[in-house]
Amino acid sequence: MDSLIEKLRISSRDVHQQIEQTILLKGLVTGNIDVTQYRMLIQTMYTMCSDFYQYFQHNLHQTPFAQFIPHACRLNELREDLLLLGQTDIYTPKPLVNFKHQPETALGAMYVLLGAANGAQYLTHAIDKNHHEEIREARHFFTKHGDARLVIWADFVEKLSNNVLSDEQQSNIVASAIKTFCFITNKLKDAIEVHYG
Ligand code: HEM
Repeated sequence: MDSLIEKLRISSRDVHQQIEQTILLKGLVTGNIDVTQYRMLIQTMYTMCSDFYQYFQHNLHQTPFAQFIPHACRLNELREDLLLLGQTDIYTPKPLVNFKHQPETALGAMYVLLGAANGAQYLTHAIDKNHHEEIREARHFFTKHGDARLVIWADFVEKLSNNVLSDEQQSNIVASAIKTFCFITNKLKDAIEVHYG
């Protein structure tokens, strides 16, 4: 029988591919992204990660997963990148109304945000080659963990597998991960639509 992490990987394969195809992320990989679009990407990640930070604090604060909240959200790095991109607006987090207040739902979302750092190494190479200096410099969100990423990720996966969970709880985690991927994909698409109409 598949472990929870395997179930998460298999079930989110399609939605991961969909997120990679969004204009902003595709542009980042191909180098076909301008500073306005890159700022849009970082701003969207910042508002979303701020909302998730509050949500994780509420739902995971007394669990072994609380330690991963700053790693999953990387808010300081997002703020630093926004400043470098000339964006100084302060954002007040909003409640995530479509996400249930229960640890399993929060864990599914945490898998997605923390796991996103796994692809960041790949994205960093693409950012290095970008011809806009502003973009090359405002990349702390993607480089934050460096080599520590693997240790943090292994710790998260271990804690996930040590947690005794019923089939129903595991299904809730997987469903929440898929929902989180779709939620982020839609936010990235909305950002483009709001800007270009
Ligand atoms: C163009 C954008 C992206 C690319 C090219 C990309 C690429 C990758 C790659 C290569 C891995 C595997 C890394 C490894 O095993 O060491 C990975 C893992 C992962 N990515 Fe992405 N990624 C992208 C965007 C995202 C985004 C926006 C999210 C979520 C917000 C995300 C969530 C994940 C997750 C959860 C994993 C971990 C899967 C696992 O090992 O269980 N990725 N990504």
